[in-house]
Parts: sequence; C-alpha cells; structure tokens
Amino acid sequence: MGFLANFVSPMVAEVTGLDCGKPTPPEDLARLKQLFLEHPVVCIRDQILGAREQGAFARQWGLLEAQDRSAFCHPDDTDVLILSNDRRPDGSQIGIVDAGDFWHSDSSHLSEPCRITMLHSVKNPAKGGDTHFIDMRAVYDAMPEDLKKRVAGLNAIHHVSKTLNPRVAVSTERAGAAEYYKQREKETKPVAQPMVRTQPETGRQALYISPRFTIGIEGMDDAQAQPLLDELFRFMFSNPIWQYTHKWRDGDLVFWDNSCLNHMAGGGYEYPDVRRMHRSTIAGDRPFYRAA
Ligand SMILES: [Fe+2]
Repeated sequence: MGFLANFVSPMVAEVTGLDCGKPTPPEDLARLKQLFLEHPVVCIRDQILGAREQGAFARQWGLLEAQDRSAFCHPDDTDVLILSNDRRPDGSQIGIVDAGDFWHSDSSHLSEPCRITMLHSVKNPAKGGDTHFIDMRAVYDAMPEDLKKRVAGLNAIHHVSKTLNPRVAVSTERAGAAEYYKQREKETKPVAQPMVRTQPETGRQALYISPRFTIGIEGMDDAQAQPLLDELFRFMFSNPIWQYTHKWRDGDLVFWDNSCLNHMAGGGYEYPDVRRMHRSTIAGDRPFYRAA
C-alpha cells in the first residue's frame, strides 16, 4: 500500500494516501518517522478525525503531554486541546484564542519541551489563519563561522511570561491575559536552554532561540546579551528561503519538530469567521548541545 510523499522543500513534506483515523501500518509509520527527521514539517492531507482518532495517531509517536488549560481540553480525549476563536451562545470561548501569536518553539520555557506538535484543521476561516515556519537548521548552517563560535556552548534564558519580554505584547483579545502573565512572571522560574540544539537522532544542529520565549543569555549582562540576541534574530529573519507558510485546508494534519523550528500563527481572521484546530503535543527530552 504505502503513501505518497511530495517534498515541498528541505523543511516540508506533503503526504497523501494515508488514513490517520486507523492504526498506521508499521512499515508506513517507520517510513513516516524517517521522513520526519529529514523534513520537520509534515502535512498529511484529507484527514477526517475525531479527537479520539487524533489522540490514537499521536500516541504512535510518543507520550502525549497533559494539556495545562483544562477548560479547553476536548471531552472525547483530554490530551487534545481546542484552539479556536469560536464562542458559545453565552459568549464564552470554546478554545484558546491567542495561541502562538509570536515566533516560538513550543514550550521551550520548560526544562523538557514538547518535541512534536500536531494540529488537525477542523475548520478554516474564509481568510487568514496561516501558520509560518522557519527552519532553524538552515539558519544555523548559514550563520557566519564567527557567529557560530560566539553562541557555541552558551545557554539562553527562556521564560513563559510575556510581561518580562519587550519583544512581544500581551493579546488584547484574551480577557485577563495581562494579569495571567503577571502571575506567571512571579510563579515561574526561567529555564536555561542551549542556544544551539543538537537533534539526537541525526546530530544536526539548529539555532534554538525564539523572540517569544528567549529573554536573555545565561551568565551574560544584558548590555552584551540583548545586542547578540538582536543580531541572531535579525539573521534568522534575513532570508525568506528558510521560511514556509502553511495555508490550511480543512482536514490537514500537520505536525512539526520543535527541536529545530520556530513557528507562528499568522492570525488575520475575526469572529464570526471561525477557525478551529485540535492540538496534541508529544513529550520530549532535555535539549542538549553536542559539538559536531
Ligand atoms: Fe506553538
């Protein structure tokens, strides 16, 4: 049987002819996992999936993380989180509204960030709702040698609170967001992550920082650290060839490797133009840097 894979770019593969609502045949799963190591964004088209089927597909890739926003977990599988701007008749939100509105790698503010994020597109808005990706392996590969030397072995400081980070802003669409992030600022410790992250399976290096979560560099004064971060962020956005914009179709199941990418929700849609995605996240290990 097998599936068809179309290589959109070094970062992206598009898969057709696979039904993720059924257990994946072992030979297909092995091939898909190999494909995913080379192309860290995979889009499987035309999937009709309930939350239960999505959860079952995702569990073939590793341990699913418990979602920390229980109000928005799917009742059919609580490891599946609803991202949506849709509202109930009483006006309350049915899902997370402002997920991923700045460039980031998922949960890099945790000591063991999630490795894979899976999003199933249930309903796309008439306009907007794209997701943008940057291949941080390609960014690292293209960095000048002296810049690589300056970051090798350094750890960056990551923090979840937007109120600690002048490079981002708190969404005005989400009620109580400023108070939420102020509270997280007080309660949450920063986490140090290697600025260059080695992919364990392949040994490939990727620049591992993001405008959303990286707020400093361990052991370095801000007077030196912030200009270095600015330089790295400028470089990361300097060549569109490292970027990919996913224009969603209903039924797309897209998953990506957080060890070597940044991504961002593009927005550009407004209620009552509804977007609904179902997300599951697969646990990862402690990031590390191993010199090549
Ligand atoms: Fe994200």
